[in-house]
Amino acid sequence: MTKPNSSLIDCALDAIRTGKLVAIPTETVYGLGADASNRDAIQKIYQLKGRPADHPLIVHVQAPPSGSKDIEQEWLTILSPWTRHIPESALILIKHFWPGPLTLVFEKSRSVLDSVTGGQTTVAIRSPAHPLTQELLHRFGGGIAAPSANRYGRISPTSAADVEAEFPNNPDLLILDGGPCEHGIESTILDVSGEGSPKLLRPGSISPSMIKASTGIDVVSSGNTVNQPRVSGTHLAHYAPHTPLYLYSASDLASQLDSLIHEAPDAKFAVLVWEQEHSAYEALLKAYLNNLTFIALAMDPALVAKQLYRLLRDLDQGQYQGILIPSPPKTEAWDAVRDRLQRASFGSGPSSNNHVSN
Ligand code: TXA
Ligand code: MG
Repeated sequence: MTKPNSSLIDCALDAIRTGKLVAIPTETVYGLGADASNRDAIQKIYQLKGRPADHPLIVHVQAPPSGSKDIEQEWLTILSPWTRHIPESALILIKHFWPGPLTLVFEKSRSVLDSVTGGQTTVAIRSPAHPLTQELLHRFGGGIAAPSANRYGRISPTSAADVEAEFPNNPDLLILDGGPCEHGIESTILDVSGEGSPKLLRPGSISPSMIKASTGIDVVSSGNTVNQPRVSGTHLAHYAPHTPLYLYSASDLASQLDSLIHEAPDAKFAVLVWEQEHSAYEALLKAYLNNLTFIALAMDPALVAKQLYRLLRDLDQGQYQGILIPSPPKTEAWDAVRDRLQRASFGSGPSSNNHVSN
């Protein structure tokens, strides 16, 4: 159920207070939110999403009002119900990047519900930079636990309409329409719960080198996060469309297309190409005029991130036999997009729900 803007926040506030679900807009993707201190409300998230119960959620908190005199103390007060310990480096990160697309994993305080943390001793927290959700959080005063508002294993929603498409005609879900998401992919996640440098659990639009440049803090890689069962977004088969998705390198696009079209001569394929390489593919386009739709992609990681899920959702509706996407450059600036594309291609296809059962 989508509501027009005026009484929207009132309705959302009422829903959160009475243990109902509200889809919240954020600058990354839409979240499926509920009162983080209400056990029954949290169960509704898992149920609607179809997410395994041991996969932890992010708690979203308000930011101090602008112009606060002692911003550091205000953040400490906001975090105190959730965290046991806030390392100095985490406070620096908070002051630089919150509200914003950065999630921090802390040692949890005893009162945080096990259903929010998946039974772990840590809790993930972020303060989202979206005015509607900030207003809701501010008026609510508590934390809103929210995973991305998609069914388990599918592409995250970047508009209110996408949320509606994930959970159609659901009278128990209020969707707070805050327009299209600014960043388009999920937040960067850093683990600050242990000793030493923060560990990168999920790449996002705030990269380790951005963090180093603005705070001097080194972020270390956490190794092979895909095999850590408790971090659901790090399972390989996440963010997947129904249509098979193929990553290609420029040198083998022609042969890949030859074999795909050889197998299905009447099928249509969507082929994304880097804008500046568009002309290199004209001969291919002519050769397979009836089979191919070419779509130019700007070679800009922030722009691709912003458009990625929108594009995949739209192409998923397009009756294509497959979607071909160029492998992004292997540089840090592309880490977040590459990560999502690899997962999307791994889990894609009509039987992809089988892959996500892990
Ligand atoms: O941008 C975002 O982060 C969006 C918006 C809605 O805030 N949320 C989001 O939530 O992407 P979700 O649930 O789809 O992904 C959160 C990730 C999951 O991979 C989860 O396992 C991980 O955060 N996570 C949550 N709590 C954790 C914890 N205590 N330790 C390690 N990972 C945790
Ligand atoms: Mg998710």
